[in-house]
Amino acid sequence: MTAPDRYGVMGYPVSHSRSPVIHRLFALQTGENIQYELLQVTPEKLEAAVRQFQRTGGKGLNVTVPHKTEITRMCDQLSERAATAGAVNTLSFRDGGIYGENTDGIGLLRDLAINQNFTIEGANILILGAGGATRGIVGPLLEMQPASLRIANRTIDKAEALVQHFSRSGPVSACRFNVIPVTEKYDLIINATSAGVKGDTPPYPSAAVAPDTFCYDLSYGLAPTPFSVWARDQGAEKSVMGWGMLVEQAAESFNIWRGVRPDTAPVLRQMRITA
Ligand code: ATR
Repeated sequence: MTAPDRYGVMGYPVSHSRSPVIHRLFALQTGENIQYELLQVTPEKLEAAVRQFQRTGGKGLNVTVPHKTEITRMCDQLSERAATAGAVNTLSFRDGGIYGENTDGIGLLRDLAINQNFTIEGANILILGAGGATRGIVGPLLEMQPASLRIANRTIDKAEALVQHFSRSGPVSACRFNVIPVTEKYDLIINATSAGVKGDTPPYPSAAVAPDTFCYDLSYGLAPTPFSVWARDQGAEKSVMGWGMLVEQAAESFNIWRGVRPDTAPVLRQMRITA
């Protein structure tokens, strides 16, 4: 048997990453001969580490926090989605060059549409947070033609900057957490803040949640995240964590690299048991 093609994920810290497990399950399912490594790399060493991985025959990398923005500068070519988001999570090494793609947005869309059976078209959407995670999902969400998309953030300037960036792509607006009009109910609320990772529950807007508001946390964990606990406490009947998006974005990366799209359903089932 020939040596496996090499892939990996670079981040800092990265030890918690589930990507090696997911890609191992994809490889088993599809019969692709790959190996996938966990690579802990500090920001100062990022460029050297990527070049070395490329030089020694690596075929592709996932890039995660905190490198997703910085890595765009190393790419010879960016996909349209990566250019719009200003962030890359998937690198392919081809013909001596580095090609950067962003599969986070499409991963979320696929999870919402296929796994969660949620229709974005015509929906009123509220995104909490205006950092890198939000930047990656606003463009793809607007492509699906929601009725409205509001970005609420603790620091209003960051939400307003995103609105300016995306205003030509659809009906997007900004506000602070605490000034969301009480009359506004949302079909979908996405938590894209990093507050839960730090164990915080900011003053999320309770009035925005109706029983049929679908609450989606981009964060995930073995135990319910602070946002998903909060959402249930507000009476939301459906509240999920971002496991589905994680597996779907990985499947998109796998497809870019190998030209084969794995079936995510069995992997999701396994992840929830073994993660
Ligand atoms: P990421 O790439 O995960 O989006 P980021 O770019 O650092 O990370 O953005 C983090 C987001 O979480 C921001 O919207 C941040 O709000 P500010 O712009 O006001 O900093 C939000 N966030 C993090 N901790 C928070 C907290 N305790 N309360 C409210 N918002 C928080």
